[in-house]
Amino acid sequence: MKILVVGGAGYIGSVCTELLLDEGHEVAVFDNLTEGHRRALDSRAQFIEGDLADRSGFEAALAGIRPDAVMHFAASALVGESMENPSKYFRNNVANGLNLLDAMVSTGTERLVFSSTCAIFGPPERVPIDEDLPKRPINPYGESKLAFERILRWYGQIHGLKFVSLRYFNAAGASARFGEDHRVETHLIPNVLKVALGEKSEVEIYGTDYDTPDGTCIRDYIHILDLARAHILALQSSKSEFYNLGTGGGSSVREVIAAAGKVAGKKIKVVEKPRRPGDPPRLIAASDKIKSELGWKPQFQSLETILESAWQWHQEFPRGYGD
Ligand SMILES: NC(=O)c1ccc[n+]([C@@H]2O[C@H](COP(=O)([O-])OP(=O)(O)OC[C@H]3O[C@@H](n4cnc5c(N)ncnc54)[C@H](O)[C@@H]3O)[C@@H](O)[C@H]2O)c1
Repeated sequence: MKILVVGGAGYIGSVCTELLLDEGHEVAVFDNLTEGHRRALDSRAQFIEGDLADRSGFEAALAGIRPDAVMHFAASALVGESMENPSKYFRNNVANGLNLLDAMVSTGTERLVFSSTCAIFGPPERVPIDEDLPKRPINPYGESKLAFERILRWYGQIHGLKFVSLRYFNAAGASARFGEDHRVETHLIPNVLKVALGEKSEVEIYGTDYDTPDGTCIRDYIHILDLARAHILALQSSKSEFYNLGTGGGSSVREVIAAAGKVAGKKIKVVEKPRRPGDPPRLIAASDKIKSELGWKPQFQSLETILESAWQWHQEFPRGYGD
């Protein structure tokens, strides 16, 4: 198939691009490089530098490429920033997302795979979180993704758009070539590994008094290659659907830090901080639906495997992509 990967210079988009190309698909990447990196572009893919805010520019790109499907990774994705600047989140994740959808409709591009998030659920009333739990986001980031999901449903009904929305839990790890380098890094694993590399002096633990076995928050870490595989399966799906995507297991902040220290063979200095508002104690995915409907099966379940892949990449790119 011919795929347009929007946001393909970012963390998850770069690995999905690589996997698509490895599997013989033809890929073009559209990215404004605000968060993405030139060095994260796979040289086998065509690159179009552009911004979704420029509706006609995006439409021209789409009309030129005529892809069979679009994968939409482009978004603003920092929860904390969304609480300070909600406008940026609704503008980029909803308004610019609408530009993408309208251009798809006007060029007759029928199929979309969308990067959603577990943040649409807010603090869950139970774990694991299945697709039917109430959606009560507690920050503009989650709200913007939920709004886009609702828009998708209507575009499906009215314009016949075929979509799969994948609600990722915590994406982690690396492929042999591409890894995690956010300009503002809020994710635990890269931050712990930066301490192991001496690029950062210590890693913060936000809250040690949660009702969890060791008092720290538990998250569901999914290997980036398993996540990428789900996108390939989503391309072949015959129906429009929403799927939660995680391993169904959870690791606490302390467990991740201890395991990362072991993988890197380094002592990790930690500093304990108070809880951050809006951090639920446990976020774990129920992924039964994507397993049964799309045949998705995670290959890299263990935290150690995820950390080893991330450590390999960070050793090779100690300052990230360096831009
Ligand atoms: N990283 C995670 O754990 C995680 C979890 C849940 C959901 N997600 C979602 O997955 C997607 C990818 O996440 P990521 O971690 O790879 O983020 P990222 O910031 O590394 O990648 C996003 C890419 O989109 C590009 N982009 C953003 N706005 C754009 C615009 N208006 N026009 C063109 N390009 C634009 C950026 O330059 C960047 O390359 C996001 O939609 C995010 O909300 C990520």
